[in-house]
Amino acid sequence: PSLEKDFLPLYYGWFLSKRSSESLRKTGQAFLDELASIKVFRKESKHFGQPSDDPKVKVDLTSYFVKRPPGVLHCTTKFTDFGKAPGSEDYAQQEVVKSSYGKAFFLTISALFITPRTAGARVELSEQQTLLWPGDVDVLQPAVSLPKGSRAHVTLGCASGVEAVQTGIDLLEFVKLEKAGSKGEEVGEIGGGKLLSYGNGMWMLLLSKKIEVRAIFGGYYG
Ligand code: 2AM
Repeated sequence: PSLEKDFLPLYYGWFLSKRSSESLRKTGQAFLDELASIKVFRKESKHFGQPSDDPKVKVDLTSYFVKRPPGVLHCTTKFTDFGKAPGSEDYAQQEVVKSSYGKAFFLTISALFITPRTAGARVELSEQQTLLWPGDVDVLQPAVSLPKGSRAHVTLGCASGVEAVQTGIDLLEFVKLEKAGSKGEEVGEIGGGKLLSYGNGMWMLLLSKKIEVRAIFGGYYG
């Protein structure tokens, strides 16, 4: 018998160092600013609360994604909801989860994305990091299973009234489109990489130089 089951965190994940958090927030900010200023984006700004698609009007994406994570940024692995979420116990009891707890990692950020709901950074997991990835989270309801780790991300911001859980769902939506052969329309190069438009206010920047961030694996107890 173990007391552990009574003390599962709200979620497990990688918590970025303060420096890496600040740096990634800045990179995300620069992306939003640049995206807002380019003409193709402004023509589609109706998805972001802009009454018209007048390209002369610039959207303020920073105030649009008004809900920003407090403190350091993180990449959730398993949302355990203090043990109430399905699969929590199984996840927490894995040897790899226990032995990785408190250990340092480098995470690779390969892309930044926004939708009318969320802004996030896509995380590309290494083989070792994939061992910490739960088997049941890369699913887009109803019943679309995507490759392991597809959902891995860091939430940078959410629109008013949108919960953080949405960022992972939005990323899965991009991956689903990719898988269906809809790679996104290449809009051009902007600072940092290749900009893709997927329609319906979905945009992704593939970073030409991937970003490495430092992070500690652990649990958040709220
Ligand atoms: P996020 O990982 O996209 O940022 C606390 O709410 C954290 O757990 C948030 O960071 C949030 O999203 C994540 N989270 C909340 N509910 C979740 C759920 N049902 N499934 C997966 N992650 C969730």
